[in-house]
Amino acid sequence: MSSSTKSSLDSKVVVVPGGTGNVGEGIVRAFLKAGATVIVPSRSRSRLAELVKLIGPELAGQLKTVAAGYATFDEADQLATKLVTDFGHIDHVVASVGGWWAGKALWQTTDDDWQKVFVDVATSHMALARSFVPRLSEDGSYTTIAGFSSQKPYPAAGIVSMQGAAQLMMRQALSAELGGQRRVNDLILGPIINRSRPGGDPDWLTSDQVGEAAVGVARTPSITDEHVVLDNVDDLKKALARMAA
Ligand SMILES: NC(=O)c1ccc[n+]([C@@H]2O[C@H](COP(=O)([O-])OP(=O)(O)OC[C@H]3O[C@@H](n4cnc5c(N)ncnc54)[C@H](OP(=O)(O)O)[C@@H]3O)[C@@H](O)[C@H]2O)c1
Repeated sequence: MSSSTKSSLDSKVVVVPGGTGNVGEGIVRAFLKAGATVIVPSRSRSRLAELVKLIGPELAGQLKTVAAGYATFDEADQLATKLVTDFGHIDHVVASVGGWWAGKALWQTTDDDWQKVFVDVATSHMALARSFVPRLSEDGSYTTIAGFSSQKPYPAAGIVSMQGAAQLMMRQALSAELGGQRRVNDLILGPIINRSRPGGDPDWLTSDQVGEAAVGVARTPSITDEHVVLDNVDDLKKALARMAA
């Protein structure tokens, strides 16, 4: 590893929308361990309080929780403006927003399902990118977390796949438009072992390992405009070796 090309995260400010979630928790913990100040916005004060407990007193000192949503362009703009005012700069954003849903074929989808699983999540991702990317520090990065279903259709979970595909294309469009001015990447995850699903195949990543990968992406200038596919532990090992090179 060349320290001249890797940025320390000690004085960095990292925003993790979705940090209260199953995967987000591991991302928050990994950035705190790496020395960053981590800001987690949420619609729910009780989920923020639960996150602080899960992280524990040893690491929670640099965890800053903000009871604020980002469901609309206005809300995300207000959030980003407030964070820049309060913290002075935003270095990295890792958006781990949205979750799993299944049970209906596309032709059975209701208005409510579509709104909740596609429209609300896609709008939040777009609102976050729209408000935060232009405010990132010059050496900052934006990473969006997606699932395997964004590249492969799953029967009875089609609207999750459609939202994930839109999210990946949003990242690619950002890359095309930014032309290297800021680093943007996505992590495409396989199934993740987490607090809601503590068991699983030993090849699956844990949410803490997703965090390790997200920290690696934030610290590695050569990783830019990429799909970082992390289906299993072997993929993670290869990605981390590349980040350490
Ligand atoms: N869990 C897995 O095994 C797995 C596998 C592959 C990929 N992923 C990906 O990882 C990401 C996070 O998944 P997760 O399992 O951590 O989900 P989760 O536990 O349900 O957490 C979702 C997070 O998204 C936030 N959120 C904000 N607006 C939302 C909206 N309109 N609808 C739903 N959530 C919203 C929630 O924040 P609030 O505090 O405001 O509620 C919450 O922190 C997703 O992109 C998912 O595709 C997960």
